[in-house]
Amino acid sequence: VVVAQEAAAAASTLDELRAAIGAYEHCALKRGARNLVFSDGAPDARVMIVGEAPGRDEDLQGRPFVGRAGQLLDRMLAPLGLSRAENVYITNVLPWRPPQNRDPRPDEIAMMKPFLARHIALVDPDLLVIMGNISCDALLGRRGITRLRGNWAEAEGRPAMPMFHPAYLLRQPQMKREAWADMLAIGAKLRA
Ligand code: URA
Repeated sequence: VVVAQEAAAAASTLDELRAAIGAYEHCALKRGARNLVFSDGAPDARVMIVGEAPGRDEDLQGRPFVGRAGQLLDRMLAPLGLSRAENVYITNVLPWRPPQNRDPRPDEIAMMKPFLARHIALVDPDLLVIMGNISCDALLGRRGITRLRGNWAEAEGRPAMPMFHPAYLLRQPQMKREAWADMLAIGAKLRA
């Protein structure tokens, strides 16, 4: 973790941070992954979304949220006038796909956290959207998305909205109602 902290702190641009993560050899997930999945979207965005870890499609393409969950995410953002092309920036807690899409382990989350914190500082968004339990763990230090969602929290010194992960919404479509309420809260915060 100390090595990660030093490498993250030394990065003063997003390109440098991407290179620093690419050169980081201490996380075992890197060895099982095809590609580094760093980010997608507009670097000057006011909204930064933090997902969990790349899945199969993301690992193949080297971009976050390009599979079915990502398509649902884009469809939820669009009615608010939010898109990666213009005003949303997306990354994950882990930049490499875990084997067989298993949940990232707490030690892996902790090891890569300095890179995530630096990533957020460099993008400097007005607010964070925290997708799912792994991201809550990394950024809020606790899990329990069912209780946390819908309530503004603070992470890395800025407002953060925990939300159900879009992959969960694909399995439990009836929960989209809650997710949509949280999206509306984000829209209202941006206009305030
Ligand atoms: N799920 C995530 O959390 N992140 C991705 O990039 C894709 C699916």
